[in-house]
Amino acid sequence: MTDMQDLDTRWEKGTNELISRLLEKGIKFSNLKCLEIFGRDGTWHVSIFAKLVKSMEIWEIDEKWKDELQKNFSKSDIKIIDSIKTIKNNLELPKVDILLIDNPMNLYGNENSQENRYCEHFDMIEEIKKFCNKKILVIFNVNRHPFDYNLYPEWRKRREQFYMNTETDNLSIEFLHKFYEQLFEKLGFNIIFNINVTRVFFKKIDMTHYFAYYLELK
Ligand SMILES: C[S@@+](CC[C@H](N)C(=O)[O-])C[C@H]1O[C@@H](n2cnc3c(N)ncnc32)[C@H](O)[C@@H]1O
Repeated sequence: MTDMQDLDTRWEKGTNELISRLLEKGIKFSNLKCLEIFGRDGTWHVSIFAKLVKSMEIWEIDEKWKDELQKNFSKSDIKIIDSIKTIKNNLELPKVDILLIDNPMNLYGNENSQENRYCEHFDMIEEIKKFCNKKILVIFNVNRHPFDYNLYPEWRKRREQFYMNTETDNLSIEFLHKFYEQLFEKLGFNIIFNINVTRVFFKKIDMTHYFAYYLELK
């Protein structure tokens, strides 16, 4: 098992670095409507984005975070829902300028249902068009080097299927950008720009990244 001391997290630092890079790219946060589909209590990064944007909507599956969310984000529209199910089952969704996808790692959801057993952002990323008017900035978590991976053969299987790659224990950033560039192009977007910022190091190796893609419908 992994010693947690091997993990070097950059939660706030990573978010601030991402925001600086997006500001340099010309993103004008104060004009933009934002939605986070994995809210928790919002203290990890929603709180940082919420101070910058025009409006922040937050979705979270677990009722236990509702009061905290309402307390922390009194101006926000907060929904306690299964985001993935909602995204898959609805043709019309709120149009936003920034979509935050602070996806959990590994598999999550209902263990006893294949349909509601989710993995990272894989079950919803192909549906992002539903949120988009003309342009959308999509920010999601990408794990290029999972730790304790041998303990999770199902996770490995899902990652191999999604990335169409058998070496998902050590994916390069180049491979991943190429993969998402092709995916978003296939979905009907032009890529205005794309960047990544490390969120977590494991044994000094960059493991989890923010991937940010600014997309425009073709
Ligand atoms: C990484 S945390 C989010 C942290 C949050 N973005 C912040 O800034 O504090 C992931 C959250 O996703 C929630 N979650 C898991 N599955 C979900 C689903 N299907 N729909 C909505 N939320 C879900 C979990 O309950 C957990 O609170």
